[in-house]
Amino acid sequence: MKLKVLSVASEAAPLIKTGGLADVAGALPAALAAQGVEVTTLVPGYPAVLAKLGKTKAVHKWDALLGTPARLLAGKLGAQPLLVLDAPALFNREGGPYADASGRDWDDNWRRFAAFARAAADISGGAVKGGAFDLVHAHDWQAGLVPAYLKLASLAGGRVVPSVITIHNMAFQGYYPAETFPHLGLPPEAWHVDAVESYGGVGLLKAGMQLADAITTVSPTYAGEIRSVEFGMGLEGLILARSNRVHGILNGIDAAEWSPATDPHLAARFTATKLAARGKNKRAIEKEFGLDRDDGPLFIVVSRLTWQKGMDVLVGVLDHLVGIGGRLALLGSGDAEIEQAFHAAAARHPGRVGVRIGYDEALSHRLQGGGDAILIPSRFEPCGLTQLYGLAYGCVPVVARTGGLADTVIDANLAALSAGVATGIQMNAVTHNALAMAVSRAVDLFARPAAWRQLQKNGMKADFSWGSSGAAYAALYRQLIEEQG
Ligand code: ADP
Ligand code: GLC
Repeated sequence: MKLKVLSVASEAAPLIKTGGLADVAGALPAALAAQGVEVTTLVPGYPAVLAKLGKTKAVHKWDALLGTPARLLAGKLGAQPLLVLDAPALFNREGGPYADASGRDWDDNWRRFAAFARAAADISGGAVKGGAFDLVHAHDWQAGLVPAYLKLASLAGGRVVPSVITIHNMAFQGYYPAETFPHLGLPPEAWHVDAVESYGGVGLLKAGMQLADAITTVSPTYAGEIRSVEFGMGLEGLILARSNRVHGILNGIDAAEWSPATDPHLAARFTATKLAARGKNKRAIEKEFGLDRDDGPLFIVVSRLTWQKGMDVLVGVLDHLVGIGGRLALLGSGDAEIEQAFHAAAARHPGRVGVRIGYDEALSHRLQGGGDAILIPSRFEPCGLTQLYGLAYGCVPVVARTGGLADTVIDANLAALSAGVATGIQMNAVTHNALAMAVSRAVDLFARPAAWRQLQKNGMKADFSWGSSGAAYAALYRQLIEEQG
């Protein structure tokens, strides 16, 4: 039986992207098509999305969606169906999806994403003529209220379908003051610890985790980690209470976007048997970042510059990295203080450290295609995609042993090296010393060309396509639909 699933995400590549959620929401529909599941994606109508839409058709209209007029536009995300919630009062703003141009979160994010979730619940139940769904898949706190509306509100469509919520990052919970509750359009009984109430406020992610029929997160290791206080960030009790409903399904990568043999962004395309061509890409990065040309390793970073990503620790290790012959090309943006610290390191080490503050999709591909090793010292990492891109591109990942990084990179210890299975370097803790040691290990291994080539080849051979993860989601959907009967 062909299933129809509504995927509800606040970003989806290539329409709008601030991080890995967009990559996943953008790739999942094609991955699931191969499993006999038709995924329709619902995203908010930010200006960037509306500008990229092309031909659309208005298929539904709300006079007052939580008090705001809105319409639903139908379009395409690649070859798959797309719905866009066009609610100008909520989404037609300059800036990013969640914050204004200066980086300050919009004050009314709770209302923006409550309306988004409410629309999703209406649509899934059949509000749009000819378009009913079998299941809703909600992503992160922005879609956290979808299961709450499904279970507790009376819906325009009338049908209540099963729901799945995926936690892409437990650090972002969408937590708002209790005063917002009366404006959510939920019945009074929803103000309960078994529903949307969370530590005296409204918890959007919490509500989804409480009321969805299944909870998934994006790697098996992270699914275990969030049972602890350190990683659960206040919601570990809920994870434990619902542990028979929690699944860790690893993200895959979209081979149409991320294949070194076909990547249009690269100066030279290459495969595992034609690695020498990477040299041209490396020279291009050196030129672009004003770095010296030499035989030592070129480290890269493509990251949000935040505490999660351990970027504050990396700043402190740069003198060591340069001292032992490494160079760094960094692309990222985030905390102003960390950005400043990287600028200062670049000024201290001309020709050795190059920094681009900003967001640049094409440059991120070029860095993976020419860098020797990508540094990912995350304090926590639900899945992580940049290490997967690194593996696919022969850019050896140097990672913290946490979350999806632990699940996807095989450390080059003696046993793994002699068995010929290593794909990268792991560090045990995100401290100055552990990161400095990991960087030293990378520099030493890089000086052994045959061993390094083996790491690159092993990574490029590893299969992180969506195949088995797509099948895992499809199996979960079918199980939930069957349960509901
Ligand atoms: P997270 O979602 O936590 O930021 P992921 O590794 O899952 O981490 O995904 C990050 C995504 O965003 C990847 O596709 C990565 O290439 C991309 N990315 C991060 N920072 C930048 C940047 N400054 N420019 C371009 N792409 C970036
Ligand atoms: C989040 C996580 C990241 C994950 C991504 C996609 O942004 O921080 O680890 O890869 O979501 O699931």
